[in-house]
Amino acid sequence: MRLGVVVSGKGSNLRNLLELGFDVVAVATNRPKCGAAAFARERSIPLGELSQKRFTLAEERDAAMRDFFKAQGVELVVDAGYDRVHTEPFLAAFGGRIVNVHPSLLPNFAGGLDAVEQALEAGVKMTGATVHLVTGDLDAGPILIQESVPVLAGDTVETLRQRIQEAEYRILPQAIRSMEARLAKSPSVG
Ligand code: GRF
Repeated sequence: MRLGVVVSGKGSNLRNLLELGFDVVAVATNRPKCGAAAFARERSIPLGELSQKRFTLAEERDAAMRDFFKAQGVELVVDAGYDRVHTEPFLAAFGGRIVNVHPSLLPNFAGGLDAVEQALEAGVKMTGATVHLVTGDLDAGPILIQESVPVLAGDTVETLRQRIQEAEYRILPQAIRSMEARLAKSPSVG
């Protein structure tokens, strides 16, 4: 299935998907200088550079992202370290076909960019990673897969983040495969 991946960060999940042979036909970013965007250029994957500076409203940026993904024939959208929420023009086109990976066991530590820091501060013994369907509500769409990750004595944000990311590299591909199987039964793209 043709994947469109949305990124803002270093791009390790994007690399992992490519290494596993997923059909990434387009990458979109709101941060053209991020590591993930550089990686997409290096691999000559069509890259949508949709910095918010180019648009007045988030809706305009998202309409441009929708048009870019549609032009590339994207069938399933993967948010892999995207630091913005999708607005209506994008959700209306790809609703039910967008997955996100989040570095906590949702609904714990939802709604922010610092879920790993929050888990350490809360002193939990167990955290993890979640892949969920994206809806208009931040980090609150239906959960597809979760993997728990223990918090170890002496963990720092970096060591814990690394262990959580290793879980992400397992569950994001699994969730994409299960969505591919599910969507193969309902072929129309919205
Ligand atoms: C991941 O930890 C993901 O859970 C969060 O952003 C991070 C992206 O990492 N949403 P990378 O850019 O794929 O390395």
